[in-house]
Amino acid sequence: MDDADRRAAAAEAVMTNAERVTLLNGILAMPLGDVKIPKGVPFGAGYIPGIPRLDVPALTETDASLGVSYLGGLRGDGATALPSGMAMGSTWSPDLMRKGGALIGGEAHAKGFNVLLAGGINLVRDPRGGRAFEYLGEDPLHSGLLGGAAVAGIQSQGVISTIKHFLLNPTEIGRQFHNGIIDEGALRMSDLLAFEIAIETGQPGSVMCAYNKVNGVQACGNDRMLNGILKGDWRYKGWVMSDWGSVRATDFALEGLDQQSGSQLDAAVFFGQPLLDAANRDKRYQRRIADMSRRVLRSIYAVGVDRNPPRKAPIDVAAGAAVAQEIAEKGMVLLQNRDNILPLAASAKRILVVGGYADAGVLSGAGSSQVQGQGGPAVSLPTMKDGPFTALMAQNYHRSSPLDAIRARAPQADVVFRDGRYPTEAAIAAKNADLVIVFGTQWMTEGLDVPDLSLPQGQDAMIAAVAKANPKTVVVLETGGPVAMPWQDDVGAILAAWYPGARGGEAIAGVLFGDVNPSGRLPVTFPASIAQLARPALPGAETVEPSFAGHGKPGQTLDIDYNVEGADVGYRWFARQQAKPLYPFGFGLSYTRFERSGLAVTGGASPAAAFTLRNSGARDGADVGQVYLVETPRGKTRRLVAFARVDLKPGETRRIDVPIDPRLLADWGRKGWTIAPGTYRFALGASAEDLIEETGVTLAGRTWNYRK
Ligand code: BGC
Repeated sequence: MDDADRRAAAAEAVMTNAERVTLLNGILAMPLGDVKIPKGVPFGAGYIPGIPRLDVPALTETDASLGVSYLGGLRGDGATALPSGMAMGSTWSPDLMRKGGALIGGEAHAKGFNVLLAGGINLVRDPRGGRAFEYLGEDPLHSGLLGGAAVAGIQSQGVISTIKHFLLNPTEIGRQFHNGIIDEGALRMSDLLAFEIAIETGQPGSVMCAYNKVNGVQACGNDRMLNGILKGDWRYKGWVMSDWGSVRATDFALEGLDQQSGSQLDAAVFFGQPLLDAANRDKRYQRRIADMSRRVLRSIYAVGVDRNPPRKAPIDVAAGAAVAQEIAEKGMVLLQNRDNILPLAASAKRILVVGGYADAGVLSGAGSSQVQGQGGPAVSLPTMKDGPFTALMAQNYHRSSPLDAIRARAPQADVVFRDGRYPTEAAIAAKNADLVIVFGTQWMTEGLDVPDLSLPQGQDAMIAAVAKANPKTVVVLETGGPVAMPWQDDVGAILAAWYPGARGGEAIAGVLFGDVNPSGRLPVTFPASIAQLARPALPGAETVEPSFAGHGKPGQTLDIDYNVEGADVGYRWFARQQAKPLYPFGFGLSYTRFERSGLAVTGGASPAAAFTLRNSGARDGADVGQVYLVETPRGKTRRLVAFARVDLKPGETRRIDVPIDPRLLADWGRKGWTIAPGTYRFALGASAEDLIEETGVTLAGRTWNYRK
């Protein structure tokens, strides 16, 4: 028992049942429905009253992982828009995640919030998933360590962070009722492992359960996932809050849910009076409301929300922008660079910039995570209409124009812009230019998957026309995640800039002109075609009407079989199928060269890997050393078991040691985690496909479990 446990137990013991259930029921703190939002409560995602008699603070909740969200402009202020989760994941840097987390935690605090609905770490099982842009990647170690670091950063500001969405919410179609089907062993080694590592690393005060079903049972009422694994096996001490509109019944309390969020969005208030009534007649509920409220209190005390109440203050816009720019710069992935067309020569006289609203700003992803800076979006295009949520689903551009940043960086050049609507017009302009920078965009939003991986509205044809007219074409992609590139062979360079946030334009120009040496590595596999995916046809695409908030018809369900790939998500699926992707997980180019060598792995109780990285080029740069398990006594496999992002000066050599989590060497079976005795082979990788050096180690077998 630690101090937070003791304080929570003491406070809970003197509470009345009415006080206990007060902490267990939240409203959506927006003018929606006939719910009154108390004076002084900031507009945001949620509000839970406190208990003044016991100095228990009210909880004021806001989204999300990318910054304090915009709410369609409802609150009337801006915040720092960090780059997308995919961009953050591409940094492979827990340190930077922590820094970004501390920044947005501080801003939430200064806007009156003490809970940030952050920590989105669902594994990207499908690149078409509408929220892929919010998530960090497809690997459990990578997502777990980076997501955990972000949570720790947020909570360092005295603001509770969630980790979400527990569990299996990789696509959006039918999101309130789709049913993810998967063997528990596979789940333990993939999505669950990501959460397990993130929770250990970041100690989030709360876990947000998902909308969907897991193996036939609603995630927020899933006894196996919540009571069995999260609170049982992992001994999680914080509270489980529902996603907004995901509670179906009061008895979800018995299945492990601790708090109903945004209750106007549910069919009824299940956790208010009904929970109180249930506790008065049924001992199981009485025990539960004691435990549920103790969990909420425990996180309040552990994170220090009571000692450090949020205080409204102006945010430091410049400091926030600097962090956003650093993440954008370190997260951009250089995918192709023929004849070293990049970095751009300062001598270019005529530069053509095409498309992507590059004259106005940079694209962002939509939904509850949408953030905007002061002054709102530079461009806002209405898209899907979904009742009161329409405002959350516009295609918004942050006020950071790549065109302006390119002009500022190339004052000697004549920089011309074409919007790219007419390929013919763009191609004529391309012929007359020394060099073309063409922007390709793919908008993604919560609530809606993309149907395929093309760049919509004819952009692929436009890029092809431009590249044909001028092969000195650089493509800058602002996408949620992987896209197809039918024009790949015809262009000079390709830069994945993702959704690059508040200073995205400056970050893009910095990389193009070489002020910044690109160092991002892909946290997801780019497939060569949709046919390579585990589910080439997107489940539900033909049968379910997409909706941000729709609950579906009573009893409606949409089964999604994740046993196809099981634990082999992303690059592991590609390795298993021996399929060659367009770009592999872990891939990324640099303006300098790296040599990777000297892989050594030690076994024993604390396995570890060591390797040597050397910058053999002429510029400062950062490499990401990646170690993959490639064979176990059970056969061939591919698992990232260790990584480290390392800054290196020209000529500098460093030897790096990284521990290997034994769970990554094990399989989950009936008895728990098992490392089979025998030889394990590892490889050092420039990516999951480019494996440079192998070494083997013999491990003694062992089996372990969570039981004491
Ligand atoms: C999303 C959550 C978000 C919540 C509150 C839901 O639609 O799935 O990620 O935190 O809304 O805004």
